[in-house]
Amino acid sequence: MPVDGSRCGTVKVITRTDRAAVNEEGTMVFSILLANPKGGSGKSTLATQLAGYLAQAGYRTALGDTDRQHTTRAWLGMRPATLPPITAWDTAADDDGKPPKGTQVVVLDSPANLHGKKLSQLLARVDRVIVPVQPSPFDLWASEAFFATLAEEKAIRKAKAQLGVVGMRVNRRTRAAQQLDDFFARLDLPVLATLRETQLYPQTASQGLSLFDWPASKTRRDRTEWQPLLDWLALPPQGRFWE
Ligand SMILES: Nc1ncnc2c1ncn2[C@@H]1O[C@H](COP(=O)(O)OP(=O)(O)O)[C@@H](O)[C@H]1O
Ligand SMILES: [Mg+2]
Repeated sequence: MPVDGSRCGTVKVITRTDRAAVNEEGTMVFSILLANPKGGSGKSTLATQLAGYLAQAGYRTALGDTDRQHTTRAWLGMRPATLPPITAWDTAADDDGKPPKGTQVVVLDSPANLHGKKLSQLLARVDRVIVPVQPSPFDLWASEAFFATLAEEKAIRKAKAQLGVVGMRVNRRTRAAQQLDDFFARLDLPVLATLRETQLYPQTASQGLSLFDWPASKTRRDRTEWQPLLDWLALPPQGRFWE
């Protein structure tokens, strides 16, 4: 199994370590965690949108719900059966910590107030950590403490899990948007995307959809906003997945 960032065929394999990121078949799984202890920051929105993108892109995707509110499970329950499937993964019920058979990519939503051992355990098993932050002073204060905690975490310090941030519900014309930019720059955080405030997110969510399930012509602006984040994931092309 290639684990060292070397080339596998023509596919650049992302640097992996010896973590137990395998599914029930023993195949490598790529895992993405959405985290921010502040409620309402946009974790479930990003998790469901990202799962929708991955499923549409052809990856066998599981959406893991570590949140007792089970937001993403409810979203999956609304998802039309005609769309590319996304598997629900109840991480709490799963003793061996392995995602469902055949999974290639796992998106993990997480609860507000995520901290301590639970946070460390989650960080130890993911490849990417995405932290959504809204441009409001309360969110910045709460997030700053979280970034300080993350910086102490072994998985982040040793770059086993790569960290990126997303500006959420950003109106570029506001002073708050500038303050968010300044905040990210001061903490030297990689900004993956800045997503505008739009009803597209609650509208698609209420139907078990993502914007990637809607016609590109209706969602072009928002897809463009997502593109740098999707590029940053650097997923192996579908069909050449750590084979
Ligand atoms: N970019 C956005 N535009 C409009 N509404 C958004 C956006 N991002 C999040 N929301 C809304 O904000 C609320 C909180 O988001 P949510 O993803 O549930 O946060 P969390 O999971 O971190 O608690 C939801 O009602 C969601 O629809
Ligand atoms: Mg949530």
